[in-house]
Amino acid sequence: MEIELNGITLGYDDRGHGLPLVLLHAFPLNRRMWAASAALAQHYRMITPDLRGHGDSEVVPSPALISDMADDVIKLLDALHIERTVIGGLSMGGYVALNIVARYAPRVQALILANTRAGADSAEGKRNRAILGQTALDAGANAIADQMIPKLLSAPAQRNRELVDHVRSMIIATDPRGIAAASQGMAARPDSTAVLGSINVPTLIIGSTDDAVIPMAESIAMHGAIANATLEIIPDAGHLSNLEQPESFNRALQSFLATLANTPNQGDAADDFPNGG
Ligand code: MLT
Repeated sequence: MEIELNGITLGYDDRGHGLPLVLLHAFPLNRRMWAASAALAQHYRMITPDLRGHGDSEVVPSPALISDMADDVIKLLDALHIERTVIGGLSMGGYVALNIVARYAPRVQALILANTRAGADSAEGKRNRAILGQTALDAGANAIADQMIPKLLSAPAQRNRELVDHVRSMIIATDPRGIAAASQGMAARPDSTAVLGSINVPTLIIGSTDDAVIPMAESIAMHGAIANATLEIIPDAGHLSNLEQPESFNRALQSFLATLANTPNQGDAADDFPNGG
């Protein structure tokens, strides 16, 4: 599906009924990465947008700020008449989820932060973002896939031809200008470490044993910084834990979501939400 908001076209899927669950994808992928969790739509209303510059969502002039991506998600929720929702994100999607809980806390019923971090980029990290963005513009998304797949997937997963092809197909579907814009946006994101202490909704932190982008120790530390958080470390998984070990990942989500079943859910209360539509 597509929707116009914040002056751009956003692609998204909205499947299932019940407690709303928004899942935000990693960089430079798109909402198709959540196909591995499609069974959740049997029990939840699963909403998966393409973040600006990715998938079917429009490319914006650089930078695509994480806060702009967060605003897009909130506008999408407004349009869908969803006041409160579970927000989950993996890696860049987690940066956006953290920005949403920092700026729109009343909209968040629970959080899922998978393979992500609260800290900002180091000076070296920012320089690498600039190089990566320029490589995308000069050499195209295929060059980015070549560079990133060894970091996104663990060594055994890199030998899984089907999985590698799936990840590559998502990366090469991303407009190089979208890759450059998101790289600049991620480099500009502020340190959100202080946000962790203010989170007062149930939170699931997911890390993986073989994540080359977000070391497992960072996920463990993030768990320690949030009150009322649950930690799941996925064994034998790299950065894209949901794709490498979908059964473990989905089981972790299902167990967490089951604990929310009795918490107030206003996801269907469109009539009570004045900004909707
Ligand atoms: C991602 O998976 O979204 C990226 O690796 C995040 C990042 O580059 O910081």
